[in-house]
Amino acid sequence: MKSTVQDLALFGGQPMFAEPLHVGRPNRPDKQAFFQHADDIWESAWLTNNGPKVQQFEAELAQLFGVKHVIAVCNATIGLQIAIRALGMDGEVIVPSFTFVATAHSLEWQGITPVFCDVDPVTHCMDPARIEQLITPRTTGILPVHVWGNICEVEAIQAIADRHGLKVLYDAAHAFGCEHRGRMVGNFGDAEVFSFHATKVLNTFEGGCITTNDDEVARVIRLMINFGFVGKDQVTHLVSNGKMSESSAAMGLSSLQAYDGFVAHNRRNYEHYRRRLADMPQLAIVEHCEKEKRNFHYIIVRVADDAGISRDTIVRALEAENVLARRYFHPGCHRMEPYRSYYPNAGLLLPVTEKLTDVLLCLPNSTATTAADVEGVCDLLAFILQHRAEIAQRSGGRA
Ligand SMILES: Cc1ncc(COP(=O)(O)O)c(C=O)c1O
Repeated sequence: MKSTVQDLALFGGQPMFAEPLHVGRPNRPDKQAFFQHADDIWESAWLTNNGPKVQQFEAELAQLFGVKHVIAVCNATIGLQIAIRALGMDGEVIVPSFTFVATAHSLEWQGITPVFCDVDPVTHCMDPARIEQLITPRTTGILPVHVWGNICEVEAIQAIADRHGLKVLYDAAHAFGCEHRGRMVGNFGDAEVFSFHATKVLNTFEGGCITTNDDEVARVIRLMINFGFVGKDQVTHLVSNGKMSESSAAMGLSSLQAYDGFVAHNRRNYEHYRRRLADMPQLAIVEHCEKEKRNFHYIIVRVADDAGISRDTIVRALEAENVLARRYFHPGCHRMEPYRSYYPNAGLLLPVTEKLTDVLLCLPNSTATTAADVEGVCDLLAFILQHRAEIAQRSGGRA
């Protein structure tokens, strides 16, 4: 451990971690379990086009979620685009700016205007109290995000949608394995979209799925992920190719077998971080609900306004030590192009988003993060806070 401020890598000392400790290192299942599925694929020579592994993966997910239809897709961004079309969204759709940019892009890519809505300061999910003032005659839907696995206020959002005849599509990229009042995520709104990107709690290298309890929506989505083919030669829609490959489904199936272990590991790390951060009043961990199912995948910390050091200076100091924390979701979609040019004043309506994008950081977690890693990151954070005045001074007076 470091003893003087000069030992910090920011000031020329040796980095505390020899290898970079990233946010989002993948959860990998048992190698033999994955190889067994890969061997089956090799022998069958059925590599894609709704093969047996994709069918099995969809069936296992449908059972886990307790939902009627699960349609596996090549990634969540395409999944969102397809679901948006299948639900007939058009014109304007209300969406948070406090999300990964794919949520907004999936609307804009199809000529739909994303109308940015502010979020709740505690859950970081869309604030239902802000939705109705954004509805215009062009509004066709609401696209909220279950940020960090916190569940949106689904009842309030549905009531607004019903009052105004709007569709609701949830971006559930962070919320695999989470539940709300005993009902699994995957069952809310008109449809939900999960991501199985390598950084997610359960991954298929790249991938995702769309869930719905609506038979007609599911039928249209199945057409839309496969070029619009109804029979061998008949095409009924202008659509896309969103199919998941068999190799991705193999990763998904073996990861499902290992999933409880991933969550247990995540949870141990989360509790470890929480214990250590309790001694650092400048940093507040965003708590996961312990009463319902959660995946404990995201370790989010809020830097207090009076911490005496800014989030960005902490991130720089950590990065120099090879701890690659992330500033999720900095700077917010409304400050990214093309939205920044289209709506230069959007921030005026998004005070909570503007604040959160400045004060949150995400720390490493996943099965690739050991208890010793968590201990080291916390030691480092404590040391940075202890020396925050010198660090701020040496960083050119920037807190
Ligand atoms: C909230 C959110 N929405 C959408 C996406 C896009 O997911 P994918 O990478 O599977 O396209 C991500 C992920 O990376 C995300 O975090």
